[in-house]
Amino acid sequence: MHTVSNLVKVTIPSYLESLPIPDTLGGWFRLGVKDWLALIPPTLVIGGVSYYSYYSYQVIKKVRNGMAPINPSIRKDQPKVVDVIDIEDINGKQAFCRCWKSANWPICDGTHATHNMLSGDNTGPVVVKFRESK
Ligand code: FES
Repeated sequence: MHTVSNLVKVTIPSYLESLPIPDTLGGWFRLGVKDWLALIPPTLVIGGVSYYSYYSYQVIKKVRNGMAPINPSIRKDQPKVVDVIDIEDINGKQAFCRCWKSANWPICDGTHATHNMLSGDNTGPVVVKFRESK
């Protein structure tokens, strides 16, 4: 714990104090190459933290607005996932995945139960029943 305390109270403030940040706008134009090189690491850290914060904010905003991707992994190399099933190929009934988590897409493999348990969701398959004509 002492190491973290020392880092926050001594090391980081000392490092920031040693940076060649000018007091005036004109001071930026008088910085030398060595000064600019010294400013690169903190600039990268600040840029990275800012970018990650902005990215996280955008993801959270999309999730809240219901705009997050539904499909986590199925055929992500394709622009659209489309399956055509011939009703003649369904023998009796068939459950089709609607949770996008099945390893046997588009057939439901029951993975929705784990997803529902972990997330509190209530997704389930659509079951197509084939009824023979009379
Ligand atoms: S596995 Fe997706 S709905 Fe069953």
